[in-house]
Amino acid sequence: MNIVILAAGMGKRMRSALPKVLHPLAGRPLLAHVIDTARTLSPTRLVVVVGHGAEKVREAVGAPDVQFAVQEQQLGTGHAVQQALPLLVSSVPTLVLYGDVPLTRASTLKRLLDAAGTERYGVLTVAVDDPTGYGRIVRDAGGAVRKIVEQKDASEAERRITEINTGIVVSPTRTLEQWLASLKNDNAQGEFYLTDVVERAIEAGVEVVTAQPDAEWETLGVNSKVQLAELERIHQRNVAYALLDAGVTLADPARIDVRGTLECGADVTIDVNCVFEGRVTLGDNVSIGPNCVIRDASIGAGTRVDAYTHIEGGTAGANVVLGPYARLRPGAVLGDEAHVGNFVEVKNAVMGRGSKANHLTYIGDSDIGARVNVGAGTITCNYDGANKHRTVIGDDVFIGSDTQLVAPVRVGRGVTIAAGTTVWKDVGEGELVLNEKRQVSKTDYIRPTKKKV
Ligand code: UD1
Ligand code: CA
Repeated sequence: MNIVILAAGMGKRMRSALPKVLHPLAGRPLLAHVIDTARTLSPTRLVVVVGHGAEKVREAVGAPDVQFAVQEQQLGTGHAVQQALPLLVSSVPTLVLYGDVPLTRASTLKRLLDAAGTERYGVLTVAVDDPTGYGRIVRDAGGAVRKIVEQKDASEAERRITEINTGIVVSPTRTLEQWLASLKNDNAQGEFYLTDVVERAIEAGVEVVTAQPDAEWETLGVNSKVQLAELERIHQRNVAYALLDAGVTLADPARIDVRGTLECGADVTIDVNCVFEGRVTLGDNVSIGPNCVIRDASIGAGTRVDAYTHIEGGTAGANVVLGPYARLRPGAVLGDEAHVGNFVEVKNAVMGRGSKANHLTYIGDSDIGARVNVGAGTITCNYDGANKHRTVIGDDVFIGSDTQLVAPVRVGRGVTIAAGTTVWKDVGEGELVLNEKRQVSKTDYIRPTKKKV
């Protein structure tokens, strides 16, 4: 089948310079969600009709399997579909989706496609409590669909109908071409309505069938920031319940946000207010404390991530302890049983098995061996203002507090670095390294005091 996604509208009510279909839901453009769903149906052609902000939309969702048709002026949904016709294969049906309706499930679309087959016209409809604003499904006494009437064109009686047009339809393509060409815009909005195709189909003796979604939210569209926020919550609730169903313990399913994919092993526990972005994998028995932000990370089995930890790319092995208040940046690789504690930042650095940096430390562009103890306040000075250099530290090194390692520098295995040392030259295996400094005590010192007024 062909799939046409309508995405030309401007979305005035979003009050934003960003085209409506590019507003993010779970961190990705609304339209990207629709394209994802469309792809699961393996369409022969996938065409997005663009108009407002066409260039931005192309840039954001462009891909080899996506074609674009431009609708210069938004003359209506029927006119929009017409713009895509030259790109479609006429021997297979065409499914019409909306770029601002992001949560429709593939199973619902399949039900509609099955109902319509290749010869019938299918409309996805749903009964709602408040149908205001939607096109109404008008049926005859026998229950057959007669037409769809828009809110603005509907009579009093028609407005009382609660079965509405979701906008999602499927049609044989060759006849759709003729029907669209015959549309008129003599209606309340002066638009070429796709909904009028229903009457054309009936005139042509084509059966019009309907199908319903599993849930009403699947058909909700975004016209405003309020609706966007509502759909975001619905989506996040769905994700949270899927995690619960998979056996993950969530302290509160209403207080987790997944903006990407989160894969969890067995017996994972996630406390409140955590945000997961990109691709995140948590191994068996991982526990995540409250208020963590974790992006593009892989966390090994049994690892504990304590409160307020921020990971922007990195890998932690098994039984690692991270946080509270730790920060991993891209290229951080922590071996099994490593500890990275409060106010420790690790970037583009490897920490070997069992190594610990528990307090107030910056480790950047470094290779740290196993069982290294990194004292509080240790800084790798990796940047000379123009270039980054590496710090290499062997196994079993003890780094005293307040050490600076001026890269490039290599510290052999088993070295002891005294507290307060600036290491700017390589240190051989097993040595003790310190900077000679004097401690001076004065007996004649008087501390200044505030003047009394
Ligand atoms: C449409 C349906 C209505 C249905 C409702 C469901 C028509 C005439 N009406 O109404 O029966 O209940 O959707 O939400 O089809 N678009 C274009 N080009 C245009 C016009 C619209 O690309 O010229 C796109 C919009 O960007 C949007 C979608 O089509 O994604 C729907 O357009 P919108 O104006 O929101 O249609 P409604 O009036 O809501
Ligand atoms: Ca709409």
